[in-house]
Amino acid sequence: MLTLIDRLERDRTLPKGDLVALIDGRGPESEAYLAARAREVRDRVFGKGVFLRGLLEFSNHCRNDCLYCGIRKSNRVVGRYRLGQEEILACCAEGHALGFRTFVLQSGEDPHYTDTYVAEIVSSIKNAFPDSAITLSLGERGHDAYALWKKAGADRYLLRHETRNPGHYARLHPASMSLPNRLGCLRALRGLGYQVGCGFMVGSPYQTTGHLAEDLLYIKELSPHMVGIGPFIPHKDTPFASMPAGDVGLTLFLLGMIRLMEPNVLLPATTALGTLDQEGREKGVLAGANVIMPILTPPGVRGKYLLYDNKICVGDKAAECRLCVARRMFGVGHMVDQSRGDHPGFRPGGPA
Ligand code: 5AD
Ligand code: FES
Repeated sequence: MLTLIDRLERDRTLPKGDLVALIDGRGPESEAYLAARAREVRDRVFGKGVFLRGLLEFSNHCRNDCLYCGIRKSNRVVGRYRLGQEEILACCAEGHALGFRTFVLQSGEDPHYTDTYVAEIVSSIKNAFPDSAITLSLGERGHDAYALWKKAGADRYLLRHETRNPGHYARLHPASMSLPNRLGCLRALRGLGYQVGCGFMVGSPYQTTGHLAEDLLYIKELSPHMVGIGPFIPHKDTPFASMPAGDVGLTLFLLGMIRLMEPNVLLPATTALGTLDQEGREKGVLAGANVIMPILTPPGVRGKYLLYDNKICVGDKAAECRLCVARRMFGVGHMVDQSRGDHPGFRPGGPA
């Protein structure tokens, strides 16, 4: 196993069969060795700084019906909410005062926010906080919308591919959604010069090790600026309510593998990881992650943006989360970095 890890670090990839063997052969020795290699590679590029992103979940309306997700259209139990432009700007102002220089605007796929309305929101945030980056995470839209938002000042876009395997994709999503469509969106975003993030859940229902290897090889192919992975966690009002949650150890192992495959990548220790394990985010950073995304969403609606059960921070305010993550990172020998935190290969203005 250790030689496979050495080869992964040297070649930054492995044949699919070797990726599967490494994941399936995971044990205490390979876990410790991989994490040590991933930390060293991460430290060489980024040092001990962990970039901060303020996550603003501005609408939980969604036209989609992904089987795993708590805010899917078919869930009639959730109280739905939308924040208007002024409320969004007020959250960013609060975040800016707390030191955030990246705002991640995330929502369900909500057509209420038209292409032009989103562009207006983006440019108003950019105007008010020209020193800050804007990341959008609004799901699938057309090329023209993505182009408009880029022109309005958006810097980055997160769209997890969820799984690279078509059969697996079809078991997680309704027939109205398609994997080629999603991969097409990621290609379009990249072509438009966004810093792009893909990603997947670890331990999603019906996932095999072969699927995970395909996800890793897809990351290699797309070579994104960011990769978001976190454990699957069941939500009680979804068809996957009784499915088992993903494994924290496996998630940490995959973080390490991704770090070796893409040394420069921006890799968050996710809220889902922190939800399954009290110290999940700290462990994520010790496994090779270098980004943390505290929640900026106003306390009044936080409890309604629940993609999965038992989400952390639901009762906390933005300032509390900001302090909490700083303390947590310090506790494991890291410091939060208040800069924009662009990808090392990113050239402002042009396609990266
Ligand atoms: N558990 C963990 N992650 C989830 N996501 C959606 N539902 C869940 C869940 N039940 C992830 C998806 C999506 C991102 C915003 O959150 O990967 O892309
Ligand atoms: Fe929100 Fe710790 S990050 S309370």
